[in-house]
Amino acid sequence: MRITHTITELNNAINQLRTGNLNIGFVPTMGALHQGHLSLIDEAKEKTDIIITSIFVNPTQFDNKEDLVKYPNTIESDIKLLEKQAKCDILFCPNANEMYQDSISSDHYDFGGIENQMEGKFRKGHFDGVATIVKKFFEIVNPDFAFFGEKDFQQLEIVKKMVEIEKLNIQIIGCPIFREKDGLAMSSRNIRLNESQRNDAPTIYKILKQVKTKSNLESIENINKFVLEKFSQSKELELEYFEISNEKTLEKTNDFSNSRAFIAAFAGDIRLIDNIKLQ
Ligand code: PAF
Repeated sequence: MRITHTITELNNAINQLRTGNLNIGFVPTMGALHQGHLSLIDEAKEKTDIIITSIFVNPTQFDNKEDLVKYPNTIESDIKLLEKQAKCDILFCPNANEMYQDSISSDHYDFGGIENQMEGKFRKGHFDGVATIVKKFFEIVNPDFAFFGEKDFQQLEIVKKMVEIEKLNIQIIGCPIFREKDGLAMSSRNIRLNESQRNDAPTIYKILKQVKTKSNLESIENINKFVLEKFSQSKELELEYFEISNEKTLEKTNDFSNSRAFIAAFAGDIRLIDNIKLQ
């Protein structure tokens, strides 16, 4: 695996590998890699010839400074994992200067309203930060396919919209949520959970599965009550939002078809999100 830090190094590495009709698969990450990231790389390997992964903790997508400061940095073990298990071709780990030059700020996007739902309500400016950095990466890497996990389902939809708005010729592939054995959705933030928080965290997925079952049988009002009740019984988790939303508009819906249930919850200061497709 070639490790690159600058755009020039990355371009040189790509030029050496890209011959003939070989296509490029890109997996952007913020590091603290886990099996969920590796599953994106596996998917990329199925579809593309040259795999490029990036590791960059993007400051402009953090509305909360403390969350940015505490975001895990495990670059050495990430590199080992990528070399030994993922066998990706090129790792790009730039610094903020390389990505933003002199102005660390994001562009403002109108995504037709999907940016204002759920995460958009609670993390101001988050999706402008995500779209700005992903667009920068796309311009630098110039991939044919890019891979994003469905855990960040709203992010996946935002990236698809950004590609449409910017008229980029890149296929965005959404990949299924990768879970621990007990159901907890894999996330870089999970390594910050203490023992008691880690024991309680799988409750989020348990509730989502129960919501899915109930969506065949019960009203939205009852389901909302059920979720609030379950969170009130949890020792470590505090619910930020629970929503059943349409998969395309991401607006709240009473119609369970083409919908997903979404949860954001805190375990201490660690924010966890998850979702499940209902019908
Ligand atoms: O999902 C992430 O890790 C980040 O939001 C992304 C897509 C790498 C952009 O910084």
